[in-house]
Amino acid sequence: MSAETAIGIHDLSFRTTSLVLNHTELARSNGTDVGKYHKGLGQHAMSVPTADEDIVTMAAAAALPLVRRHGPDRIRTVVLATESSIDQSKAAGVYVHSLLGLPPHVRVVEVKQACYGATAALQFAAGLVHRDPEQQVLVIASDISRYDLDSPGEATQGAAAAAMLVSADPALLELTGPSGLFTADVMDFWRPNYRATALVNGKESVTAYLDAVEGAWRDYRDRGGLPLEEFRAFCYHQPYTRLAFKAHRALLETCGARTDEEALHHAVAPTTGYNETVGNSYTASVYLALTAALENCPDLDGRTLGLFSYGSGSVAEFFATRVRPGYRSHLRADAHREAVGARQAIDYETYRGLRRQSLPTDGSWYELPHQTRGPFRLAALRDHQRIYEAA
Ligand code: HMG
Repeated sequence: MSAETAIGIHDLSFRTTSLVLNHTELARSNGTDVGKYHKGLGQHAMSVPTADEDIVTMAAAAALPLVRRHGPDRIRTVVLATESSIDQSKAAGVYVHSLLGLPPHVRVVEVKQACYGATAALQFAAGLVHRDPEQQVLVIASDISRYDLDSPGEATQGAAAAAMLVSADPALLELTGPSGLFTADVMDFWRPNYRATALVNGKESVTAYLDAVEGAWRDYRDRGGLPLEEFRAFCYHQPYTRLAFKAHRALLETCGARTDEEALHHAVAPTTGYNETVGNSYTASVYLALTAALENCPDLDGRTLGLFSYGSGSVAEFFATRVRPGYRSHLRADAHREAVGARQAIDYETYRGLRRQSLPTDGSWYELPHQTRGPFRLAALRDHQRIYEAA
C-alpha cells in the first residue's frame, strides 16, 4: 500500500445499558450534597445494567449498526477490550462474533490493560490494516464499572460499549503522527480475580493519571508530535468528567499556555456530554468523549483532535486523529442520543437490589428475567456456560 494511504476509524457507534441511576437520587439516598457530584465530579447519572445485560450484550449492540451499514465481509479481525471480563479463557468477542453473525474466517481476541485496552486494540487494528488494506478490523471497548457500595468511587460507576470499524481510507478519522507513551508501575486501581468490584486508592489514582498526562504528552512532543495550537479539542479518558478539565489544565501548564476557563471550556466541554450521564465506562470512556467531540464541534473537516487514553496500573497514550472531510454525514448522533435518553430511571432501592443479585456459580440451570431493551440478552446459564440470544 502507498505510504500516504490513510488508516483510521471508518465508523463509530456506542450503546449503554437500559437503566440509569441519577445522581440526584444517589445524593438523596446517601445524604451527599449533590453539588459534589454535579460540580465536584462533573457527573449527573450512571448507567446501570439489567440482570440480562453484560459486556457481551452491550458490545454486540454497539457493533450491530456497523455490521448493518458496512456488511460483515471485509471484517477479518475482532478485538474486544475490557476489564470486566466474563471468562478467563474464552474471549468475550467470540460470543459477539456469533451474535453478529460474522463469517468464520475471522480472528477474535480480547485485550486488557484497565481503561487503556481499547487504545492498544486500535493501534493493533491499524497495524493489521496497514499489512492488508482490504481488511477491516472491528474494535470494541465494553465495560461495566463497579466499586464497593457506599465507597467514594460509587458515584463514578457506569457502563457502555463503543464499537469502531478500522479501515484504510476511513470516513471519520485518520490516525496521524506518533504516539506519546507512558507506563508506570503504580497501584492506583486494580481488581484481583476473586473480586467483583475494583480496589482503588482514589487520590493516588488522580495523581497517577495527571502524571501520565504530562508524561505521555512530553513523549508525544519529543517524537515530533503536533504543537498545542494545532488541536481543536482534547478527548481525555473520563472516569468522571471534571478530571478531563483538570487534565487539560495540567497539559496547558506543561506547555506554558494560558489556563483560563475559556481555554479549558473550548478544548474539553464538547467532549463530556455522554460521559457525564453514562459514568465511567472504562475502556469505552475516551471513545465516548471522541464521539461527543465529533457530534458537538461544528465543522471539524480537516481539524485535529487529541486523545489521551489512560489505564490504571498504569499505561497511557496520547495520539492525534485528523477528521476526514465529509465526516458529518457518517455520524450517528440521533442513535446515540436515543440510547442514552431511552434508559429507564431507577430509584436507589432498585439499584441496590440489582447490586445484591449474583449469578449462580454451581453450574445449575438458571434463566434470567427479560429486562433489557437492547437487541441482545444473556438468557441463561447452563453447565457453567453463558447462553446469549437476540432479545
Ligand atoms: P472523594 O474523596 O469522595 O471526593 O473522592 P473529594 O472529597 O475529593 O471531592 C471531589 C471534588 O468535589 C473535590 O474537588 C471537592 O472539592 C468537590 P477537587 O478538589 O477535586 O477540585 N466537592 C464539591 N464541589 C461542589 N459542591 C460540593 C462539593 N463537595 C466536594 N458540595 C475520587 C473522589 C475521585 C477519589 C473518588 O470518586 C474515587 O475514588 N473514584 C474512583 C477512582 C477514579 O475515578 N480515579 C480517577 C483517575 S484513575 C482512572 O482514571 C482509571 C480508572 O478509570 C480505572 C481504569 O483505568 O481501569 C478509574
